[in-house]
Amino acid sequence: MLILGIETSCDDTAAALVEARGNRLCVRKDIVSSQIAIHQKYGGVVPEVAARNHAENIIPIIKKTLGKTKPEVIAVTSGPGLATALLVGVEVARTLSYAWKFPLVSINHIEGHIYANWLSARNIFDIKLPALILIISGGHTELVLMKQHGAYQLLGKTLDDAVGECFDKVGKMLGLAYPAGPQIGALALSGTRNAISLPRPMLEHKNYSFSFAGLKTAVLYHLQKHSVKTQRERADICASFEQAIADVLVSKTMRAAKEYQAHTVIMGGGVAANTYIRASLKNALAREMPKTTFIKPALRYCTDNAAMIAAAGYFHAVKNDFTPWNKLVIDPVWELAI
Ligand code: KG4
Ligand code: ZN
Repeated sequence: MLILGIETSCDDTAAALVEARGNRLCVRKDIVSSQIAIHQKYGGVVPEVAARNHAENIIPIIKKTLGKTKPEVIAVTSGPGLATALLVGVEVARTLSYAWKFPLVSINHIEGHIYANWLSARNIFDIKLPALILIISGGHTELVLMKQHGAYQLLGKTLDDAVGECFDKVGKMLGLAYPAGPQIGALALSGTRNAISLPRPMLEHKNYSFSFAGLKTAVLYHLQKHSVKTQRERADICASFEQAIADVLVSKTMRAAKEYQAHTVIMGGGVAANTYIRASLKNALAREMPKTTFIKPALRYCTDNAAMIAAAGYFHAVKNDFTPWNKLVIDPVWELAI
């Protein structure tokens, strides 16, 4: 099965061609056109600007992705995300489905982040469920129990900022360009992890909710009292901040993995690209739950891309879970699990 994935939920215009062959998902082509340089001068994503750029880029990107190949299925992100941005991908997918008569699969962006993990699997049937999923992106922070393919239970989510958003806002305070997550990760490598004392919000709460607004404010107060003069001081703040985030994420994920007896623990979303968080969760699992498999997406598939949308599309297509082109609508606040 050849699946064309289309993703335009935020500031990346992406298309990919994924082939399901035997027990594997093979990425034939994967194009991500990032608009970061365009949005950087505003310090964040401007929805209207994102949508206009998607509209300009999407057809050339799909053309380049397909070449002379015609897909058999089209999988498109229809939510959650920025309404006007989502509309571009969905309208193109509807048009292609109408013109080519190929079936259409409507994909939740978060489900795409989950299935990014199946792209690297040597055998897609090897990933054992139930899996505990830690979603950490620019818009979401949640713990989800995946009982079966397509069956999700939300265990908890952030009550305020998402982790990625927190990375970006703290980065802004430190004078780093948007998106600051990767730069904070890089700076933290040379910093001292207990250089400044920061809170671990909701660490002791016996639920799976998160809160990061207080941590962000704590960094702000620190910066108001101690101006950052050297690269060393900046690295110390990044390392201390990253440690506080890692402590909260790892502790809650481990507790949930134990409570729900997960066979697999999976990460997804842009922040899953963070080296320290990846290693911290891996080490905690190896220490406390050595029989549980830990899976993380390849770095390329942590941040937004369309290969992950095509991967999720495959698992819907095999169940004939299609949406007719004239029934497909966007849902900017689509919750994967409740
Ligand atoms: O999943 P994603 O590409 O978009 C959303 O669906 O939100 O995630 C983007 C977020 C941004 O906040 C970015 O700063 C963060 O992921 N990010 C990172 C790293 N790479 C990307 N955060 C921390 N460390 C990283 N290495
Ligand atoms: Zn995303």
